[in-house]
Amino acid sequence: MDSNVLFQQLSKETLHASLMDPAIESMNLLNEIAGRYPDAISMAAGRPYEEFFDVGLIHDYLDAYRDHLREDRAMDEAEISRMFFQYGTTKGIICDLIARHLAEDENIQADPESVVVTVGFQEAVFLVLRALRASERDVLLAPTPTYVGLTGAALLTDTPVWPVRSTGDGIDLDDLERQLERAREQGLRVRACYVTPDFANPTGISMDLPARRRLLEIAAAHGILLLEDNAYGLLGRDRLPTLKSLDRSASVVYLGSFAKTGMPGARVGYVVADQQVAGGGLLADELSKLKGMLTVNTSPIAQAVVAGKLLRNGFSLARANARETAIYQRNLRLTLGELTQRLAGLPGVTWNAPTGGFFITVTVPFVVDDDLLEHAARDHGVLFTPMHHFYGGKDGFHQLRLSISLLTPHLIEEGVSRLAGLVTACLP
Ligand SMILES: Cc1ncc(COP(=O)(O)O)c(C=O)c1O
Repeated sequence: MDSNVLFQQLSKETLHASLMDPAIESMNLLNEIAGRYPDAISMAAGRPYEEFFDVGLIHDYLDAYRDHLREDRAMDEAEISRMFFQYGTTKGIICDLIARHLAEDENIQADPESVVVTVGFQEAVFLVLRALRASERDVLLAPTPTYVGLTGAALLTDTPVWPVRSTGDGIDLDDLERQLERAREQGLRVRACYVTPDFANPTGISMDLPARRRLLEIAAAHGILLLEDNAYGLLGRDRLPTLKSLDRSASVVYLGSFAKTGMPGARVGYVVADQQVAGGGLLADELSKLKGMLTVNTSPIAQAVVAGKLLRNGFSLARANARETAIYQRNLRLTLGELTQRLAGLPGVTWNAPTGGFFITVTVPFVVDDDLLEHAARDHGVLFTPMHHFYGGKDGFHQLRLSISLLTPHLIEEGVSRLAGLVTACLP
């Protein structure tokens, strides 16, 4: 045998179908373009503000959690060491502290038994979709445009996503009812609808209170779950109650993340799944079984850091993020002001005005694709996210997403000025 031929070349067709899907390539492609133009001002990255990062805080948070174990849980040093160094329980070691945080910040009364701590939102949504996709008939509804993390998890779990239209106020509830009807007519079983009621990614839109109540009614009437993603809810003004806090029918599976309110480097999120499963136990217990075969448990060290942040801030991440939220609010205000100053009145150019979160949607009368992004980066020194990435490349070719989270006032002024240069040059 020729020793150079160790392995037959793998054909892509023999690998999982998700690997052929452009959605999987989206983020790599965007990062690759951004990487080639390091001097371009990035209004693309949805990363939290960095000025207050401090490695010393990580040590302080670990100390806070150790003190909590010693003083509130009466653990001795050997038990505490085991907690930090050993494998942990699959559901997580900070479920009780997360429950206290949810009560404090969101008015959600969660039994710690219904919480599973995960490796970010991403693992949480993967576990839920894996559990719900039981047969070929099972589908998920989601508003378009939608967060790429949801699209990716659906691809990896072979879950078909049925698009529901969005309006300027969030998911279109009339269309949701139509899609539920259509799916039933086709013999499909809609398991759940994914939704981000607060400051959605990519649109920045929030649902108003009557829409939240109506969504809950529709879910209860049709016997579907709502997968509520609340990654940004704490980072804004005029906050409304979460679906989970309004839910009286156990319709809502709540997907949490500490990426924007704790720190993305910890990679900690969680799911609250208090739905009873016939035969005993909670949906959370079933998700925990899946997790045991995926990541075994979320790093106890990462959980301890997040726990320390909760403990040091009286369980309120709204309070812990007061400085950051003020900066996001300022950045939204300044960016909207610059857009008005530089783009108002241009034919076919509009944008929305979110009251929180990281994102603004700009609509333009010309095609926004990855070639335009490349041109914007190379010739105008500005980066944004073409909206078609959130439509699976099927729509959204006249919109772009601006992210304000990493910017300073100077970068906002300069970034919007460069964007205005691009828009003006592209107008038909
Ligand atoms: C809508 C949405 N959900 C959740 C997350 C956080 O995901 P993770 O906790 O996996 O970092 C993000 C981050 O970009 C997001 O935009």
